[in-house]
Amino acid sequence: MAFDDELRKSQEQAEQTVERYLPEIKASPGRLAETMRYSVLAGGKRVRPILLLQSYAMYGGCDDTLAGPFAAAIEMIHTSSLIHDDLPDIDNDDWRRGRKTTHAVYGPALGILSGDALLNYAYETAMKALDEPNDAGPQKSSDEHDDTDLQTGSDKYRERTARAASALRILMQKTGMYGMLGGQSLDVENEKNNVLSIDRDTLDFIYLHKTAALIEAPLMIGAVLAGAPETDVRTLEQVGRRAGLAFQIRDDVLDATETTEEIGKPAGSDEKNGKTTYVTLFGADGAAAEAERLTEEASAMMDSLPAAGGFLREYLIRLASRRK
Ligand code: IPE
Ligand code: IPE
Ligand code: MG
Ligand code: MG
Ligand code: MG
Repeated sequence: MAFDDELRKSQEQAEQTVERYLPEIKASPGRLAETMRYSVLAGGKRVRPILLLQSYAMYGGCDDTLAGPFAAAIEMIHTSSLIHDDLPDIDNDDWRRGRKTTHAVYGPALGILSGDALLNYAYETAMKALDEPNDAGPQKSSDEHDDTDLQTGSDKYRERTARAASALRILMQKTGMYGMLGGQSLDVENEKNNVLSIDRDTLDFIYLHKTAALIEAPLMIGAVLAGAPETDVRTLEQVGRRAGLAFQIRDDVLDATETTEEIGKPAGSDEKNGKTTYVTLFGADGAAAEAERLTEEASAMMDSLPAAGGFLREYLIRLASRRK
Protein backbone atom coordinates (compact mmCIF):
# COMPACT_ATOMS: atom_id res chain seq x y z
CA MET A 1 0.00 0.00 0.00
CA ALA A 2 1.25 3.50 -0.78
CA PHE A 3 2.40 5.36 2.33
CA ASP A 4 -0.29 8.05 2.14
CA ASP A 5 -3.08 5.45 1.94
CA GLU A 6 -1.63 3.57 4.84
CA LEU A 7 -1.35 6.80 6.82
CA ARG A 8 -5.00 7.64 6.17
CA LYS A 9 -6.04 4.16 7.27
CA SER A 10 -3.88 4.37 10.35
CA GLN A 11 -5.28 7.77 11.29
CA GLU A 12 -8.85 6.47 10.97
CA GLN A 13 -8.02 3.45 13.07
CA ALA A 14 -6.47 5.65 15.76
CA GLU A 15 -9.44 8.05 15.68
CA GLN A 16 -12.00 5.28 16.05
CA THR A 17 -10.03 3.65 18.83
CA VAL A 18 -9.82 6.90 20.79
CA GLU A 19 -13.56 7.57 20.36
CA ARG A 20 -14.54 4.03 21.33
CA TYR A 21 -13.07 4.32 24.81
CA LEU A 22 -14.13 7.86 25.73
CA PRO A 23 -16.54 8.23 28.66
CA GLU A 24 -20.19 8.74 27.74
CA ILE A 25 -22.06 11.82 28.89
CA LYS A 26 -24.26 10.34 31.60
CA ALA A 27 -26.41 12.23 34.08
CA SER A 28 -23.62 12.85 36.56
CA PRO A 29 -20.89 13.95 36.41
CA GLY A 30 -22.06 14.91 32.94
CA ARG A 31 -20.23 18.20 32.83
CA LEU A 32 -16.93 16.48 33.58
CA ALA A 33 -17.50 13.88 30.86
CA GLU A 34 -18.47 16.64 28.43
CA THR A 35 -15.25 18.53 29.24
CA MET A 36 -13.12 15.41 28.81
CA ARG A 37 -14.74 14.67 25.46
CA TYR A 38 -14.41 18.30 24.32
CA SER A 39 -10.64 18.28 24.49
CA VAL A 40 -10.07 14.80 23.11
CA LEU A 41 -12.56 15.16 20.27
CA ALA A 42 -11.08 18.50 19.24
CA GLY A 43 -8.82 16.35 17.09
CA GLY A 44 -5.07 16.38 17.00
CA LYS A 45 -2.76 14.31 14.88
CA ARG A 46 -3.16 11.19 17.04
CA VAL A 47 0.57 10.60 16.74
CA ARG A 48 0.88 8.49 19.89
CA PRO A 49 -1.94 5.99 19.23
CA ILE A 50 -0.71 5.68 15.64
CA LEU A 51 2.78 4.85 16.91
CA LEU A 52 1.41 2.32 19.36
CA LEU A 53 -0.88 0.54 16.92
CA GLN A 54 1.76 0.50 14.20
CA SER A 55 4.44 -0.82 16.51
CA TYR A 56 2.00 -3.55 17.61
CA ALA A 57 1.22 -4.41 13.96
CA MET A 58 4.92 -4.48 13.08
CA TYR A 59 5.26 -7.49 15.40
CA GLY A 60 2.19 -9.20 14.00
CA GLY A 61 -0.18 -8.09 16.78
CA CYS A 62 -3.82 -8.24 15.69
CA ASP A 63 -5.97 -8.14 18.84
CA ASP A 64 -7.85 -4.83 19.07
CA THR A 65 -9.04 -5.65 22.56
CA LEU A 66 -5.45 -5.73 23.79
CA ALA A 67 -3.79 -2.83 21.93
CA GLY A 68 -6.91 -0.63 21.60
CA PRO A 69 -7.24 0.26 25.30
CA PHE A 70 -3.56 1.27 25.45
CA ALA A 71 -3.79 3.33 22.26
CA ALA A 72 -6.80 5.21 23.64
CA ALA A 73 -5.09 5.57 27.02
CA ILE A 74 -1.98 7.22 25.66
CA GLU A 75 -4.02 9.78 23.73
CA MET A 76 -5.99 10.55 26.90
CA ILE A 77 -2.75 11.06 28.84
CA HIS A 78 -1.35 13.26 26.09
CA THR A 79 -4.55 15.30 25.94
CA SER A 80 -4.58 15.73 29.71
CA SER A 81 -1.03 17.07 29.45
CA LEU A 82 -2.18 19.58 26.82
CA ILE A 83 -5.16 20.78 28.88
CA HIS A 84 -2.87 21.42 31.83
CA ASP A 85 -0.09 22.87 29.65
CA ASP A 86 -2.51 25.55 28.41
CA LEU A 87 -3.75 26.61 31.86
CA PRO A 88 -3.28 30.24 32.93
CA ASP A 89 -0.58 29.24 35.44
CA ILE A 90 1.39 27.24 32.89
CA ASP A 91 1.55 28.43 29.24
CA ASN A 92 -1.65 30.48 29.43
CA ASP A 93 -2.85 29.72 25.91
CA ASP A 94 -6.40 30.14 24.64
CA TRP A 95 -6.32 28.01 21.49
CA ARG A 96 -5.63 24.33 21.02
CA ARG A 97 -6.35 22.03 18.11
CA GLY A 98 -8.17 24.84 16.32
CA ARG A 99 -10.61 25.45 19.19
CA LYS A 100 -10.75 27.50 22.36
CA THR A 101 -8.82 25.68 25.08
CA THR A 102 -10.69 23.71 27.71
CA HIS A 103 -10.12 26.27 30.47
CA ALA A 104 -11.18 29.10 28.17
CA VAL A 105 -14.53 27.38 27.57
CA TYR A 106 -15.22 25.64 30.89
CA GLY A 107 -13.06 27.66 33.30
CA PRO A 108 -9.75 26.82 35.00
CA ALA A 109 -11.35 24.62 37.68
CA LEU A 110 -12.78 22.22 35.13
CA GLY A 111 -9.56 22.52 33.16
CA ILE A 112 -7.66 21.16 36.14
CA LEU A 113 -10.25 18.54 37.01
CA SER A 114 -10.82 17.27 33.49
CA GLY A 115 -7.07 16.94 32.99
CA ASP A 116 -6.86 14.91 36.20
CA ALA A 117 -9.90 12.87 35.24
CA LEU A 118 -8.50 12.09 31.80
CA LEU A 119 -5.21 11.01 33.26
CA ASN A 120 -6.94 8.64 35.64
CA TYR A 121 -9.43 7.49 33.01
CA ALA A 122 -6.48 6.59 30.83
CA TYR A 123 -5.42 3.97 33.36
CA GLU A 124 -8.99 2.78 33.83
CA THR A 125 -9.07 2.37 30.06
CA ALA A 126 -5.72 0.59 29.80
CA MET A 127 -6.98 -1.91 32.40
CA LYS A 128 -9.72 -2.90 29.96
CA ALA A 129 -7.01 -4.82 28.12
CA LEU A 130 -7.42 -7.35 30.94
CA ASP A 131 -11.13 -7.85 30.30
CA GLU A 132 -12.18 -11.31 29.29
CA PRO A 133 -10.88 -11.73 25.75
CA ASN A 134 -12.93 -13.67 23.23
CA ASP A 135 -10.65 -16.64 22.93
CA ALA A 136 -9.15 -17.21 26.34
CA GLY A 137 -9.80 -16.33 29.95
CA PRO A 138 -9.67 -17.65 33.45
CA GLN A 139 -13.39 -17.38 34.11
CA LYS A 140 -14.49 -20.05 31.64
CA SER A 141 -15.95 -22.90 33.64
CA SER A 142 -14.66 -26.41 33.21
CA ASP A 143 -17.99 -27.72 31.92
CA GLU A 144 -17.61 -25.49 28.84
CA HIS A 145 -14.17 -26.81 27.97
CA ASP A 146 -12.20 -29.95 28.50
CA ASP A 147 -9.09 -29.69 30.65
CA THR A 148 -6.67 -29.30 27.78
CA ASP A 149 -8.59 -26.34 26.45
CA LEU A 150 -8.79 -24.75 29.82
CA GLN A 151 -5.06 -25.19 30.32
CA THR A 152 -4.30 -23.61 26.95
CA GLY A 153 -6.83 -20.89 27.62
CA SER A 154 -5.40 -19.94 30.99
CA ASP A 155 -1.82 -20.02 29.67
CA LYS A 156 -2.86 -17.59 27.00
CA TYR A 157 -4.59 -15.40 29.54
CA ARG A 158 -1.53 -15.45 31.77
CA GLU A 159 0.62 -14.34 28.86
CA ARG A 160 -1.87 -11.60 28.04
CA THR A 161 -1.91 -10.26 31.59
CA ALA A 162 1.89 -10.41 31.79
CA ARG A 163 2.24 -8.34 28.63
CA ALA A 164 -0.45 -5.89 29.72
CA ALA A 165 1.26 -5.46 33.10
CA SER A 166 4.61 -4.69 31.44
CA ALA A 167 2.89 -2.25 29.12
CA LEU A 168 1.14 -0.56 32.01
CA ARG A 169 4.42 -0.15 33.86
CA ILE A 170 5.95 1.58 30.83
CA LEU A 171 2.88 3.80 30.41
CA MET A 172 2.95 4.90 34.05
CA GLN A 173 6.71 5.44 34.24
CA LYS A 174 6.93 7.42 31.02
CA THR A 175 4.03 9.60 32.17
CA GLY A 176 5.06 10.15 35.75
CA MET A 177 7.51 12.22 37.74
CA TYR A 178 10.51 10.68 35.96
CA GLY A 179 8.79 11.11 32.60
CA MET A 180 6.43 13.66 31.04
CA LEU A 181 5.21 15.21 34.29
CA GLY A 182 8.76 15.67 35.58
CA GLY A 183 9.67 17.31 32.27
CA GLN A 184 6.71 19.67 32.42
CA SER A 185 7.64 20.69 35.96
CA LEU A 186 11.21 21.50 34.88
CA ASP A 187 9.86 23.30 31.83
CA VAL A 188 7.87 25.80 33.89
CA GLU A 189 11.13 26.88 35.50
CA ASN A 190 12.37 27.70 32.01
CA GLU A 191 10.94 31.19 31.84
CA LYS A 192 12.42 34.60 31.44
CA ASN A 193 12.51 35.81 34.99
CA ASN A 194 13.12 32.49 36.61
CA VAL A 195 16.25 31.24 34.98
CA LEU A 196 19.31 33.19 33.88
CA SER A 197 20.23 30.98 31.00
CA ILE A 198 19.39 27.51 29.88
CA ASP A 199 22.00 25.58 27.97
CA ARG A 200 21.43 22.89 25.43
CA ASP A 201 21.98 19.99 27.82
CA THR A 202 19.39 21.33 30.23
CA LEU A 203 16.95 21.94 27.40
CA ASP A 204 17.51 18.42 26.08
CA PHE A 205 16.88 17.02 29.53
CA ILE A 206 13.56 18.88 29.69
CA TYR A 207 12.52 17.83 26.17
CA LEU A 208 13.49 14.20 26.67
CA HIS A 209 11.10 14.13 29.60
CA LYS A 210 8.23 16.42 28.70
CA THR A 211 7.92 15.16 25.12
CA ALA A 212 10.15 12.24 24.15
CA ALA A 213 8.90 10.06 27.03
CA LEU A 214 5.42 9.97 25.47
CA ILE A 215 6.89 9.10 22.06
CA GLU A 216 9.05 6.31 23.50
CA ALA A 217 6.12 4.83 25.42
CA PRO A 218 3.79 3.96 22.50
CA LEU A 219 6.64 2.51 20.43
CA MET A 220 7.66 0.28 23.35
CA ILE A 221 4.14 -0.63 24.44
CA GLY A 222 3.03 -1.77 20.98
CA ALA A 223 6.05 -4.06 20.81
CA VAL A 224 5.62 -5.40 24.35
CA LEU A 225 1.94 -6.22 23.75
CA ALA A 226 2.84 -8.15 20.62
CA GLY A 227 5.55 -10.14 22.41
CA ALA A 228 8.53 -8.56 20.65
CA PRO A 229 12.04 -9.44 21.85
CA GLU A 230 13.39 -7.31 24.70
CA THR A 231 16.27 -6.04 22.54
CA ASP A 232 13.77 -4.60 20.06
CA VAL A 233 11.85 -2.91 22.85
CA ARG A 234 15.10 -1.24 23.96
CA THR A 235 15.88 -0.23 20.38
CA LEU A 236 12.42 1.31 20.08
CA GLU A 237 13.01 3.26 23.27
CA GLN A 238 16.17 4.73 21.74
CA VAL A 239 14.36 5.44 18.48
CA GLY A 240 11.61 7.21 20.44
CA ARG A 241 14.16 9.21 22.40
CA ARG A 242 15.62 10.70 19.24
CA ALA A 243 12.35 11.02 17.34
CA GLY A 244 10.71 12.52 20.43
CA LEU A 245 13.43 15.12 20.86
CA ALA A 246 13.08 15.92 17.16
CA PHE A 247 9.31 16.18 17.64
CA GLN A 248 9.66 18.87 20.31
CA ILE A 249 12.32 20.75 18.32
CA ARG A 250 9.99 20.79 15.31
CA ASP A 251 7.22 22.06 17.62
CA ASP A 252 9.53 24.92 18.63
CA VAL A 253 10.16 25.72 14.96
CA LEU A 254 6.44 25.73 14.15
CA ASP A 255 5.74 27.97 17.15
CA ALA A 256 8.18 30.52 15.75
CA THR A 257 7.48 30.24 12.02
CA GLU A 258 3.87 29.17 11.42
CA THR A 259 0.56 30.93 11.86
CA THR A 260 -2.00 30.25 14.56
CA GLU A 261 -4.45 29.06 11.87
CA GLU A 262 -1.97 26.52 10.57
CA ILE A 263 -0.96 24.99 13.90
CA GLY A 264 -4.33 25.39 15.64
CA LYS A 265 -2.67 26.87 18.75
CA PRO A 266 -1.21 30.32 19.40
CA ALA A 267 1.90 30.89 17.29
CA GLY A 268 4.56 32.77 19.24
CA SER A 269 3.54 31.26 22.59
CA ASP A 270 7.17 30.48 23.48
CA GLU A 271 8.29 34.04 22.84
CA LYS A 272 5.35 35.39 24.83
CA ASN A 273 6.47 33.27 27.78
CA GLY A 274 10.14 34.19 27.33
CA LYS A 275 11.22 30.62 26.87
CA THR A 276 14.56 29.31 25.81
CA THR A 277 13.90 26.90 22.92
CA TYR A 278 15.90 25.30 20.13
CA VAL A 279 14.90 28.32 18.04
CA THR A 280 16.34 30.83 20.51
CA LEU A 281 19.53 28.74 20.78
CA PHE A 282 20.10 27.84 17.12
CA GLY A 283 17.63 29.85 15.01
CA ALA A 284 14.70 28.33 13.12
CA ASP A 285 16.88 26.84 10.37
CA GLY A 286 19.44 25.44 12.77
CA ALA A 287 16.68 23.91 14.90
CA ALA A 288 14.94 22.38 11.86
CA ALA A 289 18.23 20.87 10.73
CA GLU A 290 18.80 19.38 14.17
CA ALA A 291 15.35 17.77 14.10
CA GLU A 292 16.23 16.23 10.73
CA ARG A 293 19.58 15.00 12.00
CA LEU A 294 18.07 13.34 15.07
CA THR A 295 15.41 11.73 12.90
CA GLU A 296 18.06 10.30 10.59
CA GLU A 297 19.74 8.84 13.63
CA ALA A 298 16.45 7.32 14.78
CA SER A 299 15.77 6.00 11.31
CA ALA A 300 19.17 4.31 11.04
CA MET A 301 18.52 2.55 14.35
CA MET A 302 15.44 0.93 12.83
CA ASP A 303 17.48 -1.17 10.38
CA SER A 304 17.43 -4.07 12.82
CA LEU A 305 13.63 -4.04 13.27
CA PRO A 306 11.12 -6.08 11.23
CA ALA A 307 10.99 -4.77 7.64
CA ALA A 308 13.50 -2.13 8.79
CA GLY A 309 10.73 -0.30 10.60
CA GLY A 310 8.42 -0.25 7.55
CA PHE A 311 5.59 2.28 7.89
CA LEU A 312 6.81 3.52 11.26
CA ARG A 313 10.13 4.59 9.87
CA GLU A 314 8.59 6.64 7.11
CA TYR A 315 6.04 8.10 9.53
CA LEU A 316 8.75 9.34 11.92
CA ILE A 317 10.63 10.86 9.00
CA ARG A 318 7.52 12.75 7.91
CA LEU A 319 6.90 14.06 11.43
CA ALA A 320 10.30 15.77 11.42
CA SER A 321 9.17 18.11 8.65
CA ARG A 322 5.49 18.41 9.59
CA ARG A 323 3.74 21.74 9.17
CA LYS A 324 1.46 21.45 12.21
C1 IPE B 1 1.86 18.92 21.14
O1 IPE B 1 1.73 17.59 20.73
C2 IPE B 1 2.68 18.99 22.37
C3 IPE B 1 4.05 18.50 22.20
C4 IPE B 1 4.50 17.50 22.88
C5 IPE B 1 4.95 19.14 21.27
P1 IPE B 1 1.12 17.26 19.30
O2 IPE B 1 1.81 18.06 18.25
O3 IPE B 1 1.14 15.78 19.12
O4 IPE B 1 -0.38 17.79 19.44
P2 IPE B 1 -1.73 17.23 18.84
O5 IPE B 1 -2.06 15.99 19.61
O6 IPE B 1 -1.52 16.94 17.38
O7 IPE B 1 -2.74 18.32 19.08
C1 IPE C 1 4.39 20.80 25.93
O1 IPE C 1 5.30 21.55 25.21
C2 IPE C 1 4.67 19.39 26.00
C3 IPE C 1 3.66 18.70 26.83
C4 IPE C 1 3.99 17.68 27.55
C5 IPE C 1 2.26 19.15 26.87
P1 IPE C 1 4.72 22.88 24.59
O2 IPE C 1 4.21 23.79 25.64
O3 IPE C 1 5.73 23.42 23.63
O4 IPE C 1 3.49 22.29 23.76
P2 IPE C 1 2.50 23.18 22.91
O5 IPE C 1 3.32 23.95 21.91
O6 IPE C 1 1.76 24.05 23.85
O7 IPE C 1 1.63 22.16 22.21
MG1 MG D 1 4.45 24.08 27.69
MG1 MG E 1 2.33 24.97 25.53
MG1 MG F 1 5.25 24.35 21.75
